Amino acid sequence: MIEPPPGAAPTGRGAASRLRCSDPACGTWLNREEGVYSCPRCGQLAELVLEIDPAGARSWRERWRARLPGRDAAGRSGVWRFSELLPSIAPGVDAVTLGEGGTPLLELPQLAAELQLEGLWVKHLGVNPTGSFKDLGMTVCVTEARVLGRGVVACASTGNTSASMAAYAARAGLRALVLVPEGQVTAAKLAQALDFGAMVVQAGETFDEAFHLLRQLAPRLNLYLANSINPFRLEGQKTAVVELLEQLDWQPPDYLILPGGNLGNVSALGKGISELADAGLITDLPHLGVVQAEGASPFHRMWAAGAEELVPEDHPETRATAIRIGRPANWPRALRALLRTRGLTAAVPDSEIETAKRRLAELGVGCEPASAASLAGLRRMRQSGQVPVGARVVLVLTGHQLKDTAYVEEHLAGLPGIRRAEPTLEGVERSLLGWL
Ligand code: F0G
Repeated sequence: MIEPPPGAAPTGRGAASRLRCSDPACGTWLNREEGVYSCPRCGQLAELVLEIDPAGARSWRERWRARLPGRDAAGRSGVWRFSELLPSIAPGVDAVTLGEGGTPLLELPQLAAELQLEGLWVKHLGVNPTGSFKDLGMTVCVTEARVLGRGVVACASTGNTSASMAAYAARAGLRALVLVPEGQVTAAKLAQALDFGAMVVQAGETFDEAFHLLRQLAPRLNLYLANSINPFRLEGQKTAVVELLEQLDWQPPDYLILPGGNLGNVSALGKGISELADAGLITDLPHLGVVQAEGASPFHRMWAAGAEELVPEDHPETRATAIRIGRPANWPRALRALLRTRGLTAAVPDSEIETAKRRLAELGVGCEPASAASLAGLRRMRQSGQVPVGARVVLVLTGHQLKDTAYVEEHLAGLPGIRRAEPTLEGVERSLLGWL
């Protein structure tokens, strides 16, 4: 039995936390200073273990409320205001922040009625500084890169991680290296990474290929990895669940449904739910629902078959490029999150993702295609009865509408669209014939 290393002393900006192998069967303690992502003994991913004292946790809700934007003298972001749940930062190091978090929870009563639900909300994480949920994790991950004194952060990406990492690296004065599958990342996401000054290398046809290469390159080039195998990423991302529970006045929804790609986000939200339960802040755990695109759904297939091993998909295919992933690195911890929350999964064809995205847009809610998979999945879960009549459901929207404008142009059929008119009153009126 290896003794746990001492947890870094709380600095008022974080909790005592230690790094450990995430596989309960192994549980080896790891050294935070070494900046490791996985266990040298068994190869499973590393995770942070926080010391939670339920007696002390009783005051957390009030403390968090007092730190709402505008009320917090320390000016903490929507992630760092939950410092009781975050790993501590060494004294003298400033968090690398862009004001992330504090995103809206929108109620959709029309859609709730349509689906015979008691309540339906979307938690829109696309309304973050770089337009995706990645910012919630990146603020913690790039802060850790700073704590460790690393010079270059790197990721493989379907686009959002790279946009986010490039921004936080620029904010921290670090260099950023991005590996992307060739021709598979939207123009907007690539433009973000380039604008923030990242080095972008196109390599391979899939995220999985680029990620495999990067994991081998990391030790050779001394790169600090900012993919979701980085345990600090998940710490920041888990705050989304804390924030949304606060917005629901601590009445947990029955279901919390999100799209799954590399399965980092479901692992993060699962960790958040578990810790809130351990702290005594919730008793009913929301069931986590993971939705994958049919052509990239190895996790759904594993769960549906009741299997204990994931069979990778070598040729993942979906127009929702953000989740075009066949070898999700986080599947073991995603599996644990679903077991702990008695979760569920669905796989949806691209056509249903499109219908769902259109329906959200009709209600004034924009998002990128991968995000709309959560609504497409909910529809399936309602049809199959997995989600019962009268449930309260929160859908997680992961990315901003402007992340993939080409998608909208490709799917204009049925919309009023764009017409050309003579630049006269009559000309414009004529062009509107049949519409007004
Ligand atoms: N939704 C969006 C918009 C994403 O960008 C991603 C992942 C996911 C959902 C899936 O999240 O991987 O935690 O299961 N994007 C990564 C990237 C892979 O590189 O931007 P996950």
